[in-house]
Amino acid sequence: MNRHIEIAPSILAADWSRIGEQVREAEAAGADAISLDVMDGTFVPPITFGAQMCAAVREATALPIEAHLMVAEPERHVGDFIEAGADIITIHVESTGDPRGLLRGIAAAGKQPAATLKPGTPLEALDDLLEDCARVQVMSVEPGWGGQRFMPASLDRIRALRRRLDAIGREDAAVMVDGGVNAETARAAVDAGAGYLVAGSAVFNRREPVAEAMARLRAAIG
Ligand code: DX5
Repeated sequence: MNRHIEIAPSILAADWSRIGEQVREAEAAGADAISLDVMDGTFVPPITFGAQMCAAVREATALPIEAHLMVAEPERHVGDFIEAGADIITIHVESTGDPRGLLRGIAAAGKQPAATLKPGTPLEALDDLLEDCARVQVMSVEPGWGGQRFMPASLDRIRALRRRLDAIGREDAAVMVDGGVNAETARAAVDAGAGYLVAGSAVFNRREPVAEAMARLRAAIG
């Protein structure tokens, strides 16, 4: 069965001096969602942006917005992102003492809750949360920076997660993958079971227009 693989360009790699234009280019090039890498300088070393950037991107596109919260105490920030128009909110299981409560709160607000984990966190950390996730994300790089190399060990994690979701009847829940996804790595990620690809530097870079970059990525996954 040929399922549609969603591509979610991450604005982390975009030209922030013209973010609206870059988001519209990505949408015109066939992006399925826009991914926002929210970093607070505590959960991960860099600082990027907060809910105001989400509101600005909301103005620029009708696409679903995914807010990937790489922040300590995400409970304090989820409401602001919901208010700012985020549709999917991805939280790190390592960042909160009550991931289930947070996931359920996001769902209660009518948004899609997603859980993710750092490459070094055992997949078992997700076991009790899968029922409360609309989607689940495998980080294929250490969170904090774009432009890193895809970690091949992530493929086994994608496969294992796909199996766990299917085993509990959650074929509806996509496995997202984030980090180092490009024309060279995307096919393997999809073959392993990924259904949603976050791609930053593969889409937004100085080498090629967004349209060409997206076409290359789409062609790579067929
Ligand atoms: C890491 C970020 C990156 C970003 C994608 O914290 O989450 O993975 O979304 O960056 P690229 O596609 O450039 O690896």
